[in-house]
Amino acid sequence: MSQLFRRKVYSDTDTSTGLLRVLGVWDIVFFGIAAIIGAGSFSSLGEAVFRGGPGVILLYLICGFACGFTALCYAEFASRIPTAGSAYTYAYASFGELIAWVIGWALIMEYSFGNIYVAFSWSDYFTSFLGRLGMHIPDYLTCSYTEASKAVLNGSENKELINAWNTAPLIGNLKFIVDIPALVINGLITWLCYVGVKESKNFNNSLVLLKLGVILLVILVGFAYINTDNWTPISPVTGSPSFMPNGFTGVMSAVSGVFFAYIGFDALSVLSEETKDPQKTLPKGMIISLVLCTVIYIALTLVLTGMVDYKKFDGVGDPLSFIFEKTNANVAWMELVVSFVAIVAITTVLLVFQMGQPRIWYAMSRDGLMPQKFLKIHPKYKTPSFATIVTGIVVGIPILFTDKTFILDFTSIGTIFAFVLVCAGVLVLPAKEKIKGRFHLPYINGKIIFPVVFIGGLIAFYYWQPEFFHTLMNWGDPKEGEFRASIFFFIIINLILCVIAFIKNLSLIPLVGLSSCLYLLTGMSHENWFWFGMWFLIGMFIYFFYGYKNSKLGKELKKG
Ligand code: ALA
Repeated sequence: MSQLFRRKVYSDTDTSTGLLRVLGVWDIVFFGIAAIIGAGSFSSLGEAVFRGGPGVILLYLICGFACGFTALCYAEFASRIPTAGSAYTYAYASFGELIAWVIGWALIMEYSFGNIYVAFSWSDYFTSFLGRLGMHIPDYLTCSYTEASKAVLNGSENKELINAWNTAPLIGNLKFIVDIPALVINGLITWLCYVGVKESKNFNNSLVLLKLGVILLVILVGFAYINTDNWTPISPVTGSPSFMPNGFTGVMSAVSGVFFAYIGFDALSVLSEETKDPQKTLPKGMIISLVLCTVIYIALTLVLTGMVDYKKFDGVGDPLSFIFEKTNANVAWMELVVSFVAIVAITTVLLVFQMGQPRIWYAMSRDGLMPQKFLKIHPKYKTPSFATIVTGIVVGIPILFTDKTFILDFTSIGTIFAFVLVCAGVLVLPAKEKIKGRFHLPYINGKIIFPVVFIGGLIAFYYWQPEFFHTLMNWGDPKEGEFRASIFFFIIINLILCVIAFIKNLSLIPLVGLSSCLYLLTGMSHENWFWFGMWFLIGMFIYFFYGYKNSKLGKELKKG
C-alpha cells in the first residue's frame, strides 16, 4: 500500500535534460496573458454577464482571489522543484505517486480538453470575421456534428447550426459536418510547437501585444458609450434597480464560464525547464500576469454592462464585438477590429496549452509512468516532438464529435480539482530554509485566523440568510438541491480543515487557496462529477496496468 504513495525527492538543483533555457520574467508574463485571456473572456463573458448582470464583477474577484492564492502555491512549488511537469510534479513530491498520476491524468482535461473548447471558439470568431468581410464558408464546415444534431433535437433557434444540419452532404448515411477551421488551427499550432519554443515565443509575444492593445481600445472607445444607469438595471426578481439583478445566485450561476477565463496561469509552471533562473522568474511572472488579467476583466465587464443592457447578452458568443454592432454603439470599424483580434487572442491560448501538455507527458514519461517515447526530444528543435504530435491528435480527434458545453464543464472540474490538490500539497510540504533571492511563500499561522474567519462567516451568514440554512438538507429540490448538497459538503470539509489548522498550525495562504477552490467546486453539477468519475476510473486502470509496474521510482526502491 505504501508503494502507491511513494514520493519522489527532487533536489532544487535538478537540471534540465536538453530543453533550452530562453524565457525571462516578461516572457512568462506574456505567456501568462496569452494563456489566460482567450476564449473564456472573448466568448463566455457574454453569457456570464447575462446570468449575473453587472454584479458578475464580484465573481471575477472571487475567481481571481481563488486563483491568486493558488498561484502563490504554484509559485512555492515551482521555486522548490524547477523541473517540467506542473501540478503533477508537485504532487509526486508531496502526496506520492498515485495522487501524482491522478493529477497528471486530470491535467489532460485542462490542457487537451481545454484546447478543444478554445479551438471551437477560434473557429466561431474566424468564421464570423470572414462573414463580416463578405466571405462565407458553408455552415456544415464550421461546426461540430454533435452540436448541429443537438440543435436539431432540442429545437434550437440557432440558424447556423440548423442550416448546417439541413445542407450537409451525405456520406453513406452520415451527414458530413466537420469544423474545418478548428481542425486547421489545431494542425498549425501543433506544427509551431513542434518546431520549437524560440519561434513560438517570438510569435507569441507579438500576438499578445496586439491583443492587449485592442482590449485597451475596447475599454477606451467603449467608455465613451457608457450609460451608468445600465449598471443598476431593474431586477426581474425584486422590481427595483440592482447591481445584481438576479441576486447572488444569478452571479454564482456563471461560475464555470468565469473560472474558465482564469485557467492558464498554472500552465506557466510547466515552462520551468525552459526558464532562466526559474526560482525567481516563474513566481514573479505568474503573479504579475494574474493581477493584470483580473484588472482587465473587471474593466471589460464594466464597459460591457455599462454600454448595453445585460439582458441583451443572452446567447451572445462574441460580446466584445457585439457591443459595437448597429443595434448597440454602432461603431462598425471596432466590430471588425475586435473580431480580428479575438482570433489572435484565442490563438495565443491554443499555443500555450498545446505547449503545456507535451511537457507534462514528458515529465510523466521520465518517471516511467508513461511510455518512453514521450521522452523523445527533437535533435534539431529541442522540443518533446513525439508528445507534441500526440497532443495534436488528442485535441484534433474530439473536435470531430464533441460539443462545447460538455468540454467546458469537463475542463473546469478537472482544473479546479488539480488546484485543490496543489494547495493541499503545499500544506503538507515540510518547512524549508530561506534562501536569499528565492520565492518563499510567507508563513502566517492559520491556527486561529482560519477557524475564526470561517466559523464567524458561517454564523454571520446564518443571521443574514437563515432560510438557506433551514433548507440546507433539502437535496431533493430539482432546482436548488444539487447546490445545497455541495454547500453542505463544503461546510463539513472546511470545519474539518479548521480542526486540522488548529492542531497543526497550518499555513494560512494555502489554506485559503484550498478553501476557495473547494468553494468553486460547489458550482459543479452531479453530471459533471459523474463524467469526471469515469475519467478518473479509466486513469486508475491505466496506472495499475502500466504506470505502477514501470515506475522508475518503484524500480529504484526495489533495488535498494
Ligand atoms: N483562460 C483561457 C481562455 O479564456 C482558457 O481561453
